Amino acid sequence: MPLKPDNCTLVIFGAHSDLAARKLFPSLYELARWGHLPDEYRIIGVGRAPLSHDEFREKVHEKMAALFPENTQNEAAFASFSARLFYVGVDFARKEEYHALHKEIMDGAPGSASSPNLLFYLATSPALAPLIVGNLDHAGLGEKDGLSGSWRKIIVEKPYGSDLQTARELNRVIGNVFHEERIFRIDHYLGKETVQNIMVFRFSNGIFEPLWNRHNIDNVAITIAEEFGIRDRGVFYEEAGLLRDIMQNHALQLLASVAMEPPVNFSADAVRDEKAKLLRSIRPITPHSVNGAVVLGQYEGYRAEKNVAPNSTVETFAAIKFFVDNWRWKDVPFFVKAGKNLAETVTEIVITFKCPPQNYFGTAESCCYTANQVILRIQPEETIAIKFGAKRPGEALITDPVFMKFDYKTSFTEAGVTPYHRLLLDAMTGDQMNFIRQDSVEYSWAIIDAIRVAFGAQIPDFYPVHSWGPESVHGIYG
Ligand code: BG6
Repeated sequence: MPLKPDNCTLVIFGAHSDLAARKLFPSLYELARWGHLPDEYRIIGVGRAPLSHDEFREKVHEKMAALFPENTQNEAAFASFSARLFYVGVDFARKEEYHALHKEIMDGAPGSASSPNLLFYLATSPALAPLIVGNLDHAGLGEKDGLSGSWRKIIVEKPYGSDLQTARELNRVIGNVFHEERIFRIDHYLGKETVQNIMVFRFSNGIFEPLWNRHNIDNVAITIAEEFGIRDRGVFYEEAGLLRDIMQNHALQLLASVAMEPPVNFSADAVRDEKAKLLRSIRPITPHSVNGAVVLGQYEGYRAEKNVAPNSTVETFAAIKFFVDNWRWKDVPFFVKAGKNLAETVTEIVITFKCPPQNYFGTAESCCYTANQVILRIQPEETIAIKFGAKRPGEALITDPVFMKFDYKTSFTEAGVTPYHRLLLDAMTGDQMNFIRQDSVEYSWAIIDAIRVAFGAQIPDFYPVHSWGPESVHGIYG
């Protein structure tokens, strides 16, 4: 049973967003059913539309029934959850409208608390975040306005800013209203069971860590591939592109988890110190190194997607060869690849070890063919495999690659929780381990900004839908 959070009010900006419908409300409903939410809690949806509480409840019910019909089958359970939902219509840009929100929060606070615990969730476009935070402050809803003995926190969705400058500005604006310990920058990848297991795999086993370095590892390949395109997110993709949508956050966080040094202990800050240090050690891509290190691509047909410009040069694929300039990893390439509309949906990290120093059993190719690998499959299967060479039965001495495999599904009977279940609870209880700290967010943007500058006005290469990206990608593996 996880730690039970204090009684609190959760205020969701962007209450009509896709994220709220697909992830936040379903997760909150399930947490409520499992008894993991506080005894007294309220959820206030905030959006532009003027709706009554009942109209809002009806909308949440409709969306839940369409997306997760099983969640609405137990009518009594849903009704009890629904009774905790409230709504305030606010034009985010109009300061004066936040007073109605203040009133709703205070009037209905659990147990009529004079200073209720408040958790704000910004599930809105990233560009609105500074505006909303400034207006919360103006309405007396910032952290400093709370009385001692109560807390006020904020969860901010990714992408956190759109480059280093906007992220710094956002850090500055939010930092004026909330302390860093109260700011939860969410990257839902960090809530995945298999991502959390990367550190457990590395630091709770004795046999891997001595090998986890440049002396034994030839390269590391990280892939985040999706078989589907941008779906209906044309507007967002035209602004963000894949570098901002996936590389800056999910991909670099995977890289940091697999390559970081062991933390001094397993506290949130000790772990985040090591991740920040790792991100800071990534060698910047420069105009001089970009060719041969970066391939950007766009899937054929992207320009015909809804809300996409007919001559768009936005990337939907990126493959980058990174180097980490520290003692552990100097000169080991990290091939990081992510894309939309690729051949399959899979996220994995493959650590390939160096070939043995002498090759007794065949040609150089066959030796590397059986090179040892540790394959951490994040999704859809949740497995870890170790690849090694074994003698093929028969008279000849031929080696073949074989695998030892651990599968979450067969080794454990407990059901895992989804990232949003876990991260919502972590934010309520104040555990920042799986949220991105200010320094890491800025280091990550610096890496991505450098790539964008170095790539300059080049046009991404086209690639066929359901392929593994543009042909040119092979160039970075040389
Ligand atoms: C989101 C990105 O953060 O992560 C999406 O915006 C991407 O483009 C998604 O599809 C992938 O997350 P998951 O957990 O569904 O694999």
